[in-house]
Amino acid sequence: MSQIAIAPARTLGTIDQKLFGGFVEHLGRCIYGGLYEEGSALADQRGFRKDVLGLLRELRLGVLRWPGGNFVSNYHWADGIGEKASRPRRPELAWRGEEPNTFGTDEFLAYCAELGTQPYICLNMGTGTLAEALDWVEYCNSARNTHWAARRRANGRGDPYGVRYWALGNEMYGPWQVGMMTAEEYVREATRWARAIRMLDPEARLVACGETGLTEWDRIVVDGLAGLVDYHSIHIYTGSDDYWTNVLQPHQAERAIKATAALIDRAAYAQGLHPKPAIAYDEWNVWYRTVPGDENTVPSNPVPSSPVPSNPGAADLAERYTFDDALAVATYLNIFIRNCARVRMANLAQMVNAIAPIVTTADGAAVQPIYYPFLLHVRAALDAAADVRVDGPTVSPELPPGASRWPHRIADLGPFALVDAAASVSADQRKITVTLVNRGRDAADEAALVLRDFAFAGAASVTTLTDAGPALPGGAPGFPGTSALPGIAGAYLATSTVSAGPVASGTGAARGHVLTLTLPPRSFTVVEAPIADRRSAPRLARSRARFPDARSPEKQRNKGVLPDE
Ligand code: AHR
Ligand code: AHR
Repeated sequence: MSQIAIAPARTLGTIDQKLFGGFVEHLGRCIYGGLYEEGSALADQRGFRKDVLGLLRELRLGVLRWPGGNFVSNYHWADGIGEKASRPRRPELAWRGEEPNTFGTDEFLAYCAELGTQPYICLNMGTGTLAEALDWVEYCNSARNTHWAARRRANGRGDPYGVRYWALGNEMYGPWQVGMMTAEEYVREATRWARAIRMLDPEARLVACGETGLTEWDRIVVDGLAGLVDYHSIHIYTGSDDYWTNVLQPHQAERAIKATAALIDRAAYAQGLHPKPAIAYDEWNVWYRTVPGDENTVPSNPVPSSPVPSNPGAADLAERYTFDDALAVATYLNIFIRNCARVRMANLAQMVNAIAPIVTTADGAAVQPIYYPFLLHVRAALDAAADVRVDGPTVSPELPPGASRWPHRIADLGPFALVDAAASVSADQRKITVTLVNRGRDAADEAALVLRDFAFAGAASVTTLTDAGPALPGGAPGFPGTSALPGIAGAYLATSTVSAGPVASGTGAARGHVLTLTLPPRSFTVVEAPIADRRSAPRLARSRARFPDARSPEKQRNKGVLPDE
């Protein structure tokens, strides 16, 4: 039995739609043969795969990062504009592919418009120059009568695109990155870039390249750039064949966010910065089965037929996900919601075919289990996160060293509550959403949601995701309009409504503030309910009874009857 205490009035911060962000890179079949496939019967005239667009649109992405990732460090954007027939084909260094350049800036920005999402472009700080970056910003955003703005117009786009989010390079700390630098070199270079880009476009929002939030690189970059950028980025992937490592390792993200926030606070205090940079968690996911360099050996789980290889011999990171990965993804999103005051952007890496919730063949698109927690989270999230505390069964499992491809040690963060919870409330405090991940492997949990100062004002709608569809009453396999992947365990949704239980504390509120429900083992549950404030009405009624002449809350406050707000 878990008790989930929720304080709707104790908000933790507003939830930026950019927390539900995505990332698409020129990598494997993410772009070519993924979201873009010229000549396919499934594509529109621009080559945008309509089946993929349909599935992506459901995810209501607040922002979409492009074109990499490691790819960007050898990408020259001007190769990807103008007549397609004359765009050069180039060697691609990060993933050992070939880049046809038929999907470039105008295609990406048209794609974002089609999806209704904000574009976020990562600049090439590997082989790219500052001059080239400025040209890119000018091409996208300038309304003036200058060369690259004119080229944009000549290519058919009159109005500036108004791209706001720009990253100063990708993972510049790593030996896998073309043009890797030391932290000091990066700060020097990024300082020049940030100042120049702001001169050209004062509306630009700049993202510094951090590492995991926990390293010397992060400390040096935060200290050096906090006054010049709007975000410090961090990347963490997790995952393991070991169940507990897989479902609990996302908690490393919570540690990373706190560590990054502390670095930012320290720099902001020392340098007198206000406002201070936010965190852009601009790559996250479960990813461990497909290791760069290994993809062409035997993958650890079945791959559906993929008749449209875009880059033979190149890395494709065609990770096949399981239901347990969906529990990890649901937990990541809970973590971003709980930390929404500091994390103002987060990007699932990636969206199509490469470590992705959506996969394609020449004949269609399907979703993997990790699609569903994202979908359910984004549909249900409300305006602000609310404080939640979980009291219930915990685990301190064996987390065998070396079980994960990733080095994140999390044992010291335990014991872990079996149920991970986050909550959000509407701005008018009349609706609440609670997202609950039961990591319990074998046993269901009876959870009591207990509202502080509020009561449930009607039946709650409950949506539960499990991998045991047929066994659940009302369970429907998959999701309408999608098909299951061969060899992939499904994800199943069951929906129901639950009413709040009897009033426990006798406050006279109409409907009680405790709602109990069963969380199946290995499940993700979303509870959405109307709520009402229990404080003002009964308190006023009580004090009116005692002080019949006291008319207004102001008068009562003046008399010391009601506390100050
Ligand atoms: O998302 C795959 C890769 O992971 C990205 O290209 C890179 O930034 C990270 O290392
Ligand atoms: O595997 C090469 C690199 O290692 C990946 O791009 C990065 O995410 C990881 O640290």
